[in-house]
Amino acid sequence: MKALVLAGDSGTRLRTITHSRAKQLVPIANRPVLFYGLESIAEAGIEEVGIVVGQTASEIEEVVGDGSAFGLRVTYIRQSEPLGLAHAVLVAREFLGDDDFVMYLGDNFVIGGIAGLVEDFRRLRPEAHMLLTRVSDPSSFGVAELDHGGNVVRLKEKPEHHRSDLALVGVYMFTPAVHEAVDAIKPSSRGELEITDALQWLIDQGRDVRSSVIDGYWKDTGNVSDMLEANRVVLQSLERRIDGEVDDTSQITGRVHIDSGAQVRNSRIIGPVTIGADTVIEDSYVGPFTSVDHSCVIHSSEIEFSIVLPEASIQGVGRIEASLIGRQVQVAPSPRAPSAHRLVLGDHSKVQIRP
Ligand code: G1P
Repeated sequence: MKALVLAGDSGTRLRTITHSRAKQLVPIANRPVLFYGLESIAEAGIEEVGIVVGQTASEIEEVVGDGSAFGLRVTYIRQSEPLGLAHAVLVAREFLGDDDFVMYLGDNFVIGGIAGLVEDFRRLRPEAHMLLTRVSDPSSFGVAELDHGGNVVRLKEKPEHHRSDLALVGVYMFTPAVHEAVDAIKPSSRGELEITDALQWLIDQGRDVRSSVIDGYWKDTGNVSDMLEANRVVLQSLERRIDGEVDDTSQITGRVHIDSGAQVRNSRIIGPVTIGADTVIEDSYVGPFTSVDHSCVIHSSEIEFSIVLPEASIQGVGRIEASLIGRQVQVAPSPRAPSAHRLVLGDHSKVQIRP
């Protein structure tokens, strides 16, 4: 069995922090979301992976390389334009050959991995198997309608009026039957060859298409609370590891990961917390479920349950909670009210906050 990972630029939804970068590289606990997908694939016993790349190919290739860090052999497949998920299957036809495969959208995050699901697929071998999950905003997903027996009867891509709250997760398992479907369908109204339509075609042909409903799913829909929650869940299984420098006046409690080159001075850190390389934390408190990425500065401030992206600086602003701070953002004191801090800041933002 092979894996086809989609990391071209085919998203249409609101993005929190990825206007300038590949959405598959959004960090969860300081690691690109794509890495968790690749790890899940390796855990499922798959070694041959095709990664479909588009405009952001160089960014993706730079961080994933030949895949050996994940125990995978990666082949990059160029998709000239983001013409849909089924189009990605079409351009990967030669790589896929006549093998079964799992298709994994690189910006999706399945907590707990996919090993069990892949094992079931190998054993039962339906022609296609899709994963579904309950979401509060079905209109930004493919939505499945089930009959009384729990079989998927209809799939609608991003419906205005949804008849179910079961969204298609971006992980699908296929036998080569999918190639017939991909050849048979036509582009949708948004001009893309939809994998949803390919699945619907298989269903309409009476083929063996199955589904399972999973929990613990995340993708960036622009909802910061969801992103903080995904970050929290990953940090929960962090292991304590201190490679950076911590001075004698600092206190580190619990599962805290401090990368080499990071410095903690006169500060208190209560895990789970991860701190990236070359970040400096001074005269500050960093509380549970916080990820601070590399090359940041946190000075005379308190931060908890938050995500801080590379090269951000937070200085002298009192307490920050439940916040997402983008790349190269600067947060500094302001002379005037308001004094409440709840921030959702895009890349390169600058804010002034009263301490
Ligand atoms: C795609 C699929 C959609 C699915 C979603 C999950 O949408 O078309 O059915 O629910 O991925 O990530 P896209 O993100 O390409 O708009």
